[in-house]
Amino acid sequence: MSKNGIVIFGGTGDLAFRKLFPALYNLHILSSLDDTYKIIGIGRRGYSRDEYIEIIRKWTKEFSRLRYTDEDFKKFSDRIEYYMMDMSDIDSYTGLIDFVESKDITGDIMYYYAVSPGLFESISKGLEKAITNKKENDCAECSKHDCYLDHAKIIIEKPFGENLESAREINSNLMKYFNEENIYHIDHYLGKEMIINIMALRFSNIIFKNVWNKDSIEKVEINVYETVGVETRGGYYDKNGALKDMIQNHLFQIMSIVAMDEPRDHSTESIKKVQTNVLRNLIPISPDKIDQSLVMGQYIGYRDEDKVDPNSVTETYVAMKVEIDSERWRNVPFILRTGKKLHERECEVVISFKESMPGVYKNVLIIKVQPDEGVKLNFNIKKPGIETDIIEKVDMDFCQSCVLENRINTPEAYERLLNAAIESDKTLFSQWDQIELSWNYINELIDTYKKYSGKIHMYEPGSCGPEKKLT
Ligand code: BG6
Repeated sequence: MSKNGIVIFGGTGDLAFRKLFPALYNLHILSSLDDTYKIIGIGRRGYSRDEYIEIIRKWTKEFSRLRYTDEDFKKFSDRIEYYMMDMSDIDSYTGLIDFVESKDITGDIMYYYAVSPGLFESISKGLEKAITNKKENDCAECSKHDCYLDHAKIIIEKPFGENLESAREINSNLMKYFNEENIYHIDHYLGKEMIINIMALRFSNIIFKNVWNKDSIEKVEINVYETVGVETRGGYYDKNGALKDMIQNHLFQIMSIVAMDEPRDHSTESIKKVQTNVLRNLIPISPDKIDQSLVMGQYIGYRDEDKVDPNSVTETYVAMKVEIDSERWRNVPFILRTGKKLHERECEVVISFKESMPGVYKNVLIIKVQPDEGVKLNFNIKKPGIETDIIEKVDMDFCQSCVLENRINTPEAYERLLNAAIESDKTLFSQWDQIELSWNYINELIDTYKKYSGKIHMYEPGSCGPEKKLT
């Protein structure tokens, strides 16, 4: 029987320890991994297998969603191997592939690039060279390239480039070795329960489905607020900022799901097509609107953070107003806000409806993504009492995460995404044309901002962001 497995480049990094191993542990507990499934962590450090497993034990204990017991971990750790190598040395991949084969992993293999994009090219090249050499003789029926692709799923983390040009370069390098269908672009927001739920909410409820357009909706807001600052990532963050770190990927992906037309069916292809159309139809912010439609902010104290330029003008907060050129959304503003060191940690999508008649409250639908998960709807009702014409606003509030069973059963984003990749389901991943369209938009926006505005508004840590608001 062929064995499946995952090879994690960057197996000693933060992402692997905090997210990937706990997620794989949960999948193990849920029996979602084949009995023979193997996990190979790759790193530069000279750990023995036992030392590596002890480190993973510590992180798994702290970060796994499901129960931790020494007995469960023992069984989980039987799957784990450690392989030390220099990932920038193309010739060292032959040794890796020998090692993989020595563990009998010959089925579906995932290669997780949990490393900086600077290493993507050498990993891809090294893998191809080593695997095609090895498999050459086994594959009389197929070309070297096909043979390799049969066995590889490449999982890529962001940042996928620093701008449109570098993203294109990374993509064309990957395309030398893999087909698009073998590449899984992770956007971990797509693995969050309530983001996945947006489609069900929109399309399985006639009360929402039929009013999801410019005739009934006045504006859409997508807010992703964080209380943390840049922490240990000052070097990366200062070169990017909130527009590239959050808007280009997570918020644009959420917007594309909120705004898309109903897909023809549930296939990945149909869903991605309608999502991509949203990104294609985003209207660029013109120079004369830049100061009304884009507010860039920076928290006070950011310039003193480790590895941040003391004169930095990098934004840690963005509020922007965009419109979509489509029949469904003409003139409806989509307001996206995100920032670090804000008053609260919260991610929500707020749909404000138009008023049904003068003088009544507007209906508002709030999709709560985190920390609470749920859906809240404000609506109008007659105020109890003798008077018949006093309208008041009330809430229907469904808190999904308040139900213990839901909390226990809701997988973490990485757990869900790894499972989807194992199942070869690409619906929850972003794809290259979306990434390219998003970068294109952000590149243009940054050019316009630098040329016609350049303003950065300071804000107090723990506040709601800059005083300057969108107009
Ligand atoms: C990452 C960003 O993609 O998402 C971080 O690089 C950000 O800057 C993080 O903190 C937020 O993710 P979550 O799941 O904690 O909301």
